[in-house]
Amino acid sequence: MKNKDITIAASILTANFLSLKDELTNLFNAGIKWIHFDVMDYHFVPNLSFGPKILSDVCQFNDEINIDCHLMVNIKNITVKEYLKPFMILPQVKNITLHYEALTKTQLTEFLNWNNPRIKKGLALNPITPIRKIYPYLTQLDTILIMSVAPGAGGQPFLPNTIAKIKLLSKMINDHNLRITIAVDGGINDLTGKACINAGANYLVAGSYLLNSSNTVSDQLAKLNHDK
Ligand code: DX5
Ligand code: ZN
Repeated sequence: MKNKDITIAASILTANFLSLKDELTNLFNAGIKWIHFDVMDYHFVPNLSFGPKILSDVCQFNDEINIDCHLMVNIKNITVKEYLKPFMILPQVKNITLHYEALTKTQLTEFLNWNNPRIKKGLALNPITPIRKIYPYLTQLDTILIMSVAPGAGGQPFLPNTIAKIKLLSKMINDHNLRITIAVDGGINDLTGKACINAGANYLVAGSYLLNSSNTVSDQLAKLNHDK
């Protein structure tokens, strides 16, 4: 799988927020161009994380960093567009991904019909959601984010059934000549990352593997990039 264009995004969910600037500096200096920002609301997932204010501070780190927003949230009493506005107004935000399972039919339609030339649109799928559920929407999406752990926490082990889902989606995309990013999120390390790439993924989200290791971020990233 050499020469394949693979993006590695760093999830900062398990970063040390007392020294977030140092963590971002280490990631950036190691070559990370994408930060994966996990928003959790204690409703869709049993955890709370952070929102637009902290993201706006993260964006001040520098203009070159690209932000990938993974919203593990239920949206209530507000349109999808209104909910996304405080994220979208930040120029570094380039990807927005909502969960298929979290959206009502009306919200899904609104999201699919929404277009912003600067921002790519994605749908995330929980481990138990079959890939075929999103087949009808593939032409309206830029990214499918396959969750390889139950959403809600960093540091969980990779679920092996993810590989079959990646293969199925990759075949569907190739058979229909679509241009869609296959992203995988959760439990990514050098071994699971390589298996995902071999199965057809081209975007990996790695959190604890990069940030909670006794090795440097550069060393961890080098292992993830090795032979991919
Ligand atoms: C889980 C999050 C992931 C997670 C990745 O709900 O969506 O992005 O933080 O962390 P690791 O790489 O530690 O599984
Ligand atoms: Zn995530």
